[in-house]
Formats: sequence, C-alpha cells, structure tokens
Amino acid sequence: MALREILVVPHPVLKQVSQPVAVVDDELRTLMDEMLETMYEAPGIGLAAIQVGVPKRVIVMDLARQDEEPQPRFFVNPEILWASEETAPYEEGCLSVPDIYDEVERPAKVKLRYLNYQGEQIEEDAEGLFAVCIQHEMDHLEGVLFIDHLSRLKREQAIKKVKKQVKAA
Ligand code: NI
Repeated sequence: MALREILVVPHPVLKQVSQPVAVVDDELRTLMDEMLETMYEAPGIGLAAIQVGVPKRVIVMDLARQDEEPQPRFFVNPEILWASEETAPYEEGCLSVPDIYDEVERPAKVKLRYLNYQGEQIEEDAEGLFAVCIQHEMDHLEGVLFIDHLSRLKREQAIKKVKKQVKAA
C-alpha cells in the first residue's frame, strides 16, 4: 500500500473543485485505502482526495478515539440534503494547514447522502464532531479550506506560518 503525499497551502491544487466519481470500483477503493493509510500516518481524522492531489469527490474519515477500535468511513460523491439553522463553533485543524487551529462556525446538524466503500447509497444524519468533519471535508471538494472561513488577516498569517514551517523542514 502506497502512502500519498499530502499537499499543504498555498498549493494551487487545493483550490480546485473536485469532480464526481462515475463508478465505485477497485481502482477507486485502492485510492480510498491509500488515502486512509495516509490519514492514519499523518495522523488525522479526515482527508479529502484533493489533499493528495486527486480531484475526485472522495473523503475518508475515522472519528474513533485512541482507546477505540478503528472505524474507517468512506464518502463518495457526498451531498448535504439538509443543514440545521442552529450553528456550532469548533476549533478546526487541517492536514493541509499543519499546526494551525481556529474556530469555525458551521451548521450543528446535517443530513447527508453519499456512496460508501461498496458503492451503496446511504442517507445519514450527522451531528457533533461528525457534522464538523464532514462539512470541513466537503469544503475541500469545492476548493475551500477552513482558513477561508477566517478573516483575511488570520488566513494570511496561517499561510505565512505554514510556508515558514515547510522551509524549515
Ligand atoms: Ni482539511
């Protein structure tokens, strides 16, 4: 299994809009497996395909706590069918914006539709960390990063900080 390289800001590919997947086949499952391994290795709790340079509407996630068994989840062509008017703040981070954390306000609950690892269509309600994470990852599919929800000043500071880290590495 190959680990993929995670792109970081300000890589222009992260701003691309990802394209729908036509069919969930073994080739796509290999991509999802590799994304999951890359996410675990990072480590992180969610990863969108565009973060490894693949502009497809694919997300992997695992929200299990460290003392729990892994609970890998796969979302292909996810859509938000409904979002609550109630919002909730959460201190977000992103593997493409390493070591930067800031509060983002999003709908507290959403209803989702997506294809799973087997290509079956699922409808599911999300709240709490799951709601935060799926909305954060779905933003990636539109070329949007969590820092795009912050003020311009905070966004520019974040990118500057990441550039400095990359240079120092
Ligand atoms: Ni992210």
